[in-house]
Amino acid sequence: MKISKRAQNINPSLTLSITAKAKEMKKQGLDVVSFGAGEPDFDTMAHIKDAAKQAIDEGFTKYTATSGIPPLKEAICVKLRRDNWLDFEPKEILVSTGAKQALFNIILTLVEEGNEVIIPVPYWVSYDEIVKFAGGKSVFLKTNNFKIDPQMLEKAITPKTKMLILNSPSNPTGVVYEEKELKLIAQICIKHNIIVLSDEIYEKITYGKKHHSIASINDKIKKLTIVINGVSKTYAMTGWRIGYAAGPEEVIKAATRIQDHSTSNASSISQKAALSALTGPQDHIAKMAWEYKRRRDFMVERLNRIKGIYASRPDGAFYVFANISDFYGDQIQGSLDFCTRLLEEAYVAVIPGVAFGDDRFIRLSYATGMEHIKRGLDRMEKFCEKIKK
Ligand SMILES: Cc1ncc(COP(=O)(O)O)c(C=O)c1O
Repeated sequence: MKISKRAQNINPSLTLSITAKAKEMKKQGLDVVSFGAGEPDFDTMAHIKDAAKQAIDEGFTKYTATSGIPPLKEAICVKLRRDNWLDFEPKEILVSTGAKQALFNIILTLVEEGNEVIIPVPYWVSYDEIVKFAGGKSVFLKTNNFKIDPQMLEKAITPKTKMLILNSPSNPTGVVYEEKELKLIAQICIKHNIIVLSDEIYEKITYGKKHHSIASINDKIKKLTIVINGVSKTYAMTGWRIGYAAGPEEVIKAATRIQDHSTSNASSISQKAALSALTGPQDHIAKMAWEYKRRRDFMVERLNRIKGIYASRPDGAFYVFANISDFYGDQIQGSLDFCTRLLEEAYVAVIPGVAFGDDRFIRLSYATGMEHIKRGLDRMEKFCEKIKK
C-alpha cells in the first residue's frame, strides 16, 4: 500500500524511540534509570478515581456531546476565572482527548496551506509535526536564555504569519514567562494580528514564579488567543486523556466539527473524573510542586558538578535542559549519540535535545523518585568522566 505523503512527512518521535529502547533493556533484566518520562510519577488521587468508578457504576458510559459534558465545561470556566482571570463561557470551551488533541484540533482549524507558524526554539516535539500535518510551515524562532526576544519575534513576522505557539511553563526548558514579558509579546501579536496558541499544561508546576496566561493581559490579546490546558500534569492524570481549548466561539465551533468526525467526545468516564479533579480539593498541587522543587534543586546542583555539563535552574515543569556540547568531538557528534551511549553504557535514559530543536542539549525529567535520581546521576557522572575528551 502506498503511504500518503501526509503520513510520510511525520517524523518518528525520538522521545518514544529512546524510551522504547530503555523499556526493552529493562525487560531484559537490565537496571535502567529513566529520566525520559513526560508524566508525573504520582498516582491519580483517590477521590478522582472514585468519581470514575461511580460513573461506570451509574452507567455513565455512553456518548456525550462532542465538546464535553456541561458541568465539566462549566467547571473549566470557573477554573479559568479563579486561576487565570479569564472570562469564558461554556460555548467557548472544547473538551478533547488530552491537551494534545486540543492542540491538533485548533491548529487544523486555523492553519492553512502556506501559513507560517512561529515556534520558539527549543520547542515541544509535537508542535512542528502538527503544523506540518495541517499544511503550514513552522518558522523556528531563536530565543535568548530560552525566552522569546520581542525584537526577534517582530523580525520573524511576515505577511504569511498566522500564529505564534507559546508554551509557558515550557517543556523542555522549564522557563516561565513573567507578566511584563508577556505584555511585550502581546503588543506585537496585536499589532500584526497574530493568533497566539498558548499551551499552559504545566501552569501549576512552578517554583516561586507565578504562571500568567497571555490571554489575561488585555481584551485585545484574549480575542487573539486560544488557551490550551488539561488535567494530565496538574492532577497526575496522563492516562485519562482530558484536555481542553478555550477561545473565541467561532473557533471552538469549527474545532468541534473536526472532533465530531474524528474521536467525538473524550471518554465519558474520564470527563467525570476530570470534573472531580477540577472541583475537588486542590491542596495536593502545592505538595506535588514542593516535591518537584526538592528534586529539581538536587538534580541541577549535581549536574552542574559534572565537568562539561551546564544546567540552568528551571522555574517550572519537571525537566532540566542541560548543555552537554562540551563532550562533542570525534566520538560523540551530537545529542543523539550522547543519549544512545549513555543508555547503552551507563543504563541511563535521557532525551536528546535535537528532538526539541537544539542539539547542544539533553532533557532530563525529574518526575521520578529521589533515589532513582541519585543513582542515575552517579552513573552519569562516571560516564561523563569516561568520555571526556
Ligand atoms: C508542552 C506540552 N503540551 C501538551 C502536552 C500534551 O498533554 P496531554 O497529555 O494532556 O495530551 C504535553 C505532554 O507531554 C506537553 O509536554
